[in-house]
Amino acid sequence: MKIKKIEIHIEEFSGGEPLQEADQQLLTAAQKAISSSYAPYSGFHVGAAVHLSNGKVVSGNNQENAAYPSGLCAERVALFYASSQYPEAGVEAIAISAGADNFKVDYPVTPCGACRQVIAEIQNRQQKKIRIIMHGQNGFTQVVNGIENLLPLMFKEEKLKRTK
Ligand code: THU
Repeated sequence: MKIKKIEIHIEEFSGGEPLQEADQQLLTAAQKAISSSYAPYSGFHVGAAVHLSNGKVVSGNNQENAAYPSGLCAERVALFYASSQYPEAGVEAIAISAGADNFKVDYPVTPCGACRQVIAEIQNRQQKKIRIIMHGQNGFTQVVNGIENLLPLMFKEEKLKRTK
């Protein structure tokens, strides 16, 4: 047995520290999307915005349901809309932000496991890293370049093929 260590890279920006201009613009779109979230059950309103290789920005927000598992996260709403409308376009970056009814979301909002898997599918398909910008309401923001930083040992298409 041996221990394998995997390194991940996270850029961290404290509140007040400026983001790259393109990241800030995408984050502003994600923050705007929060207001149309439908989250009466959790009171946790998430906005996501996706920057596409064709220059378009597509946003989405979480859509809940009385049958809880039927709802969908903001990231997947935005990503699936983007793929359905612009199937030829690549995903350059996704920004995520949230606001809660009863508290301040003072930590960067990181995508759930299912959303990471969807981001992984897109990144692996396009063979180009996706930048992920995760924002907290106090300004603390984490950015990763590539889903492998959030989903090490990911399951991907090549694993469906026999190796011999
Ligand atoms: N949610 C998102 O939309 N994205 C995340 O990254 C975290 C969780 C939603 C799902 C559900 O509507 C609510 O937030 C509480 O989990």
